[in-house]
Amino acid sequence: MTATGPATGDDAPALRQRAVDALLSARERTATLTSCVDDPDLLAQHSPLMSPLVWDLAHIGNQEELWLLRAVGGREALRPDIDKVYDAFEHPRVERPSLPLLPPDEARGYVADVRARVLDVLESTPLHGSPLVDSGFAFGMIAQHEQQHDETMLITHQLRRGPAALSAPPPPPAPADAAALPAEVLVPGGPFTMGTSTEPWALDNERPGHTRDVPGFFIDTVPVSNGAYVRFIEDGGYDDPRWWAPEGWAYIREHALAAPLFWRREGNAWLRRRFGVVEPVPAEEPVLHVSWYEADAYARWAGRRLPTEAEWEKAARHDPATGRSRRYPWGDADPSPERANLGQRHLQPAPVGSYPEGASPLGVRQLMGDVWEWTAGDFLPYPGFAAFPYREYSQVFFGSSYKVLRGGCFAVGTVACRGTFRNWDHPVRRQIFSGFRTARDAAPEAA
Ligand code: AVJ
Ligand code: FE
Repeated sequence: MTATGPATGDDAPALRQRAVDALLSARERTATLTSCVDDPDLLAQHSPLMSPLVWDLAHIGNQEELWLLRAVGGREALRPDIDKVYDAFEHPRVERPSLPLLPPDEARGYVADVRARVLDVLESTPLHGSPLVDSGFAFGMIAQHEQQHDETMLITHQLRRGPAALSAPPPPPAPADAAALPAEVLVPGGPFTMGTSTEPWALDNERPGHTRDVPGFFIDTVPVSNGAYVRFIEDGGYDDPRWWAPEGWAYIREHALAAPLFWRREGNAWLRRRFGVVEPVPAEEPVLHVSWYEADAYARWAGRRLPTEAEWEKAARHDPATGRSRRYPWGDADPSPERANLGQRHLQPAPVGSYPEGASPLGVRQLMGDVWEWTAGDFLPYPGFAAFPYREYSQVFFGSSYKVLRGGCFAVGTVACRGTFRNWDHPVRRQIFSGFRTARDAAPEAA
């Protein structure tokens, strides 16, 4: 489809089509991720950090049943007996393999049954009249939820040992003009609108839109590359406590960490394991699988710092020509393959400097897609935040245990990615598709 902006409640057929497309494209990816391995593999736990793939599958269906069949559709419960098994707050991930999980065939039947009924509900529900259905919010929320679990399942595939299960898609296109790009871009000081009150499918933690005054700063034009990160390693970065936050230093010492996750040194070369294949680390790709502590240490070593979340969003959304905050760095149009590496079309980030068509007005590249970018700050509510539609989506995670990541990555579906979207994780985590870029204060006269 060729939508150029958020569909709103005024155009019900377009809105329904948008919801159907979002649900169907998420399900296509879910099917691929859960059909390329056999049943024992679906039931196995590949890492204590992750659920068995078949748990994610039925959890996707159960959330869809809860919100779209029961809450929106007012339909009778299909499988109330399994609600607890698939409630993420009832059972931590380590426990999930020992739960009475639906066997793979039953799980597939369940999600298909839910989906058929949901398409029927979508046909017959007016998409206005309550916050849950206005502009199709609940349908968009559930499509985003499935895409988020598609990313979670891709992480499980990356952690899984043994030969590749997913067939290898083509690598992303190489950039034409990366060498000519300036290292950093000045974002002049001044107010901008952070978050949104108008994006119909924005989740609760992105709301409401509010004004932030952000002093001038410089931000890297592109994410930090593997080549640059290797210089940090080879300069003894992991052996020098000066660069590290105290908790980060303690953590890398305790766990003997000396490189990104999935990296291994062989002679003078760095190798990485990526979806079952060992290959040389490509110098020009954004660094991937680093913790917040590693990103923070690299930035200090480089004489810089991580951008704050407000700086990141201003770089991504503020249009200096109009003073307006836009949906994406390139404007208000939906993501497309020319603008960003999203949606698991490629199973790796594109080289730094790619996607000139996705650049921000000031020329910052790859803010959307490729790698999630760690920002400096804790995951906190915006002023005026209201939990919606459930506290467990965002509210219970606010506080100092989680750092915010922005911009999505190659694994993120296009419906679950926008300039306001906020992801979060513990600062030690690095099985996620995480990278970063750095920033620095501008001199007061530039600010
Ligand atoms: C936003 C990625 C942190 O996976 O824990 C999925 C998304 N919430 N099901 C997560 C989510 C409920 C969430 N993150
Ligand atoms: Fe979930």
